[in-house]
Amino acid sequence: MAAKTTPEEATTTSAPAAASPAASPGPPLFRPGLEGVPATQSAICDIDGHRGVLTYRGVPVDQLARNSSFLETAYLLIWGELPTIFQLNDFQHEVQMHRRVSFRIRDMMKCFPASGHPMDALQASAASLGLFYSRRALYDPQYVTEAVVRLIAKIPTMVAAFQLIRKGQDPIQPRDDLAYSANFLYMLTEREPDSLAARIFDSCLILHAEHSLNASTFSARVTASTLTDPYAVVASAVGTLAGPLHGGANEDVLDMLDQIGSIDRVEDWLDQAIASKQKIMGFGHREYRVKDPRAVILQGLAEELFVRFGHDTMYDVARRLEEVAADRLGPKGIYPNVDFYSGLVYRKLGIPRDLFTPIFAIARTAGWLAHWREQLGANRIYRPTQIYTGSAERPWLPLESRPASS
Ligand code: SDX
Repeated sequence: MAAKTTPEEATTTSAPAAASPAASPGPPLFRPGLEGVPATQSAICDIDGHRGVLTYRGVPVDQLARNSSFLETAYLLIWGELPTIFQLNDFQHEVQMHRRVSFRIRDMMKCFPASGHPMDALQASAASLGLFYSRRALYDPQYVTEAVVRLIAKIPTMVAAFQLIRKGQDPIQPRDDLAYSANFLYMLTEREPDSLAARIFDSCLILHAEHSLNASTFSARVTASTLTDPYAVVASAVGTLAGPLHGGANEDVLDMLDQIGSIDRVEDWLDQAIASKQKIMGFGHREYRVKDPRAVILQGLAEELFVRFGHDTMYDVARRLEEVAADRLGPKGIYPNVDFYSGLVYRKLGIPRDLFTPIFAIARTAGWLAHWREQLGANRIYRPTQIYTGSAERPWLPLESRPASS
């Protein structure tokens, strides 16, 4: 189990006494980035950041990546238990039936600029689902089930559709004979994927499906706590995931490896990056003090792909960077995170770089929906407090009385 922190232990920085609420015994305390501050109770996922162990509903993620499918893992996360054969078949069938998106959404996507980032296209498309489905039945189990199925089913279709639309092509329809990941790769490339490629891609989705109260999931829970619809919940989480400090880092890792260029340049590049206080993309994590267990598995998946489809010299640069960084950053507990090797897997699968984060979103939709359900189960609107640092109360001044420069 990850160390649990009490609110008292979690707060370190005292605010000025003037900012203290009247009823509290001392000044309010502030922890930037809410580090170590429990913001919810959750039974979905646990991270042991010192041992490098990650579990979904108690099941170790490496066992899921090896033996499960993404849809089975999504079921586990969202409904709390591994499904029976009947439940799994039913869930797979329902998802398969809801993969198509309305022609109106496809037409809307055709109006998006082709140069726009696919994460922005996905955020807008996910939000647009709320226009099509009623929003006021949040506590109706039927509504919840349908929303879960629709989002899990349609998000990949929308990612693939934008990819074809921006190339000037019409999106292609999902193929009912293909499983979830194989169908996504098919919709993206218009070719039925190799079975190893589809299996490895599915494992990637499992590894990205959930990660406790990361920034996008926190965003999802805050949005959910207002009792808005689940499409808005997912859209707000997609927007949060897009940033380079979060899911967007997977794309930046390959740019960084490109910039380094070759193994012999790694050491100098890293020393210079550290000296200029640059963040090394794909390294560091708020929760882990060791290598992210997902990075370990993703590295193995990349190697499996290289054996089958040929080596990638960019991987040699990545490995050298990890090796050199272990000396420089390891003592601070900074090691590769989930985003470090995922891009190398997707690159070998021929996926364009700016689709890496939308793919993360396809997977994380499962986690967001699990948190949406959990939030609604014991809801209280998120409304933290702040420590005011602005000026004391002062009067409005007419224009002519204001100082010339302020
Ligand atoms: C994801 O939270 C999750 O669970 C997220 C995620 C998920 O599955 O949802 O795991 C997915 O978002 C992975 C992270 C992807 N981001 C990156 O790879 C970007 C690079 N990494 C970071 O910027 C950083 O490590 C974070 C954002 C991941 C974590 O930030 P923290 O916990 O706020 O740490 P920090 O920025 O305050 O850094 C603390 C110290 C600093 O040094 P000091 O000033 O104390 O001397 O560690 C250093 C930082 O400079 N540091 C790094 C570093 N990460 C932290 N130094 C160099 N390179 C880095 N990558």
